[in-house]
Amino acid sequence: MIIAIDGPAASGKGTLGKRLAAHYHYRHLDTGLIYRAVAKAMLDAGADLADEAVAAGIAQALDPAVFGDAALKTQEVGAAASVVSAHPQVRRELLAFQRNFAAGPPGAVLDGRDIGTVICPEAEVKIFVVARPEVRAHRRALEMRARGEQADEAAVLADILKRDERDRNRSAAPLRRADDAHELDNSELDIEGGVRAAIAIVDAARARR
Ligand code: C5P
Repeated sequence: MIIAIDGPAASGKGTLGKRLAAHYHYRHLDTGLIYRAVAKAMLDAGADLADEAVAAGIAQALDPAVFGDAALKTQEVGAAASVVSAHPQVRRELLAFQRNFAAGPPGAVLDGRDIGTVICPEAEVKIFVVARPEVRAHRRALEMRARGEQADEAAVLADILKRDERDRNRSAAPLRRADDAHELDNSELDIEGGVRAAIAIVDAARARR
């Protein structure tokens, strides 16, 4: 079974995907890390983020071993990821890797922006996670402080809104809810509550099969 988790509520999302995968003994891929890895390599190389050909070359040569790099989690890399991920050639280079990951046994949880719409439209369960932007900014600021980074919540909120806008309005794989996705608003839920709600959605889908 493939479980697709999409939506703008990114920070809670990685945890949700990981927790769901652990619950069902499936493999987990946080696809945001892929775009973050391309973005960080661009920043490290001093490349122009707008240079689609360079970004596509980096995407093609990407080594999944870098996905564990804690430096991928910063706000700067996230903002750069939102720029490089808008390049159609970059998304094309990363498609096969994501589809191969999803197809392997025993099942997989992928989270991102376009899993249910583009990468795995055939996913048996699709969950679209949303939360109020202010709630997401607060969570993101707490995460940043926990990592020892400075966080100005108003600036984090502005960044979130800008990124959402870019993700929704780009022409290549824009962020949108698949028609057959279940919307999960976790504004009023803690992580445990969000995980329970998602498990209920998946269990109901499994029972129908
Ligand atoms: O989810 P995360 O914050 O790590 O994603 C960083 C950026 O990568 C997003 O803002 C989005 O622009 C891009 N992304 C994407 N498609 C995905 C996952 C992430 O375009 N499947």
